[in-house]
Amino acid sequence: MNKTLRKAVIAGNWKMNKTPSEAKALLTEIAPLVKDAEAEVIACVPYVDIAVAVETVKGTNIKIGAENAHWEEKGAFTGEISTGMLKEIGVEYVVLGHSERRQYFGETDETVNLRTKAVLAAGLKPIVCVGELLKERETNITQEVIARQIKLDLLGVSAEDVKNVVIAYEPVWAIGTGKTATAEQAEEVCAFIRETLAKLYSKEVADSITIQYGGSMNDGNAAELLGKENVDGGLIGGASLVAEKFAAIVSAANA
Ligand code: PGA
Repeated sequence: MNKTLRKAVIAGNWKMNKTPSEAKALLTEIAPLVKDAEAEVIACVPYVDIAVAVETVKGTNIKIGAENAHWEEKGAFTGEISTGMLKEIGVEYVVLGHSERRQYFGETDETVNLRTKAVLAAGLKPIVCVGELLKERETNITQEVIARQIKLDLLGVSAEDVKNVVIAYEPVWAIGTGKTATAEQAEEVCAFIRETLAKLYSKEVADSITIQYGGSMNDGNAAELLGKENVDGGLIGGASLVAEKFAAIVSAANA
C-alpha cells in the first residue's frame, strides 16, 4: 500500500458465521489486540449480530459493517434490509457484490450498482467486490471482466462519492480455497483497477481509493500482499474468525 496516499483498511467478512453471543465473544477478544492499529479495522457481520457487535465495540477503534443492503428505503421486499435500518443501528460499511452473492443469490452488476448508490446516499461506505472466475483467468480475460464489473458497479457514482467507496479485488478461485493469488497477481489486478478508476474519474481520485485484496489472506501471507503498492488492505473471510489471526493481519498493515 502507499501510505502517503491512502489508509489501509482491514475488514473481516464473517459470512454466515457466529451467533450474537459468539459475535460478542469474538469482538471482545479482538478489540485489545488491534487497539493500536494504524489501519481502519472493520468487522462485517451477519445482520442479527449487528446490534450486539455495535454495542461490544463501543469505545474501541473497530467499526461494524453489514454484508449486504437493499437499494429501496422500505416496502414490500420480504427478507431484505434497508440502508436506513443499517445506518440507524450503527453500521458504517456494507459489503456489496461479494462473489458468493453473485454465485448463489443472483446478484448482478446492475443490482450491485443500485445497492452501491443507495449505500452512498445513506452516508455509509460500500466495499464493492469484484473478481474473476478461474475459467476467466485461464482464458486471459481477467482485465476485461474486472473493467466491466468496475464500470457497471460504479455507473452513475460521482467523483465525490466514489472517494467513499472501497474496492475489494477477490479472485473467485482464491476465496475459501486456501489458494491465494501471489502478491504479484494481486498487485497486477489492483493496479489495473486503479488505472480503470483513473480513466473513469481522474488520477487524483483513483489514487485516493482504497483497493483491498481478498481470497485466503491470512497471518502468513498478509505482509507480502500488503507490501505491494496498490494493495491497500484486505477483505478477510476464514482468518477473520480467529482473533489472533485477524489481529496479525491488522499488524501486518502497520509495517
Ligand atoms: P477467505 O474469504 O478469506 O475465506 O478466502 C474472503 C472473502 O470471501 O471475502
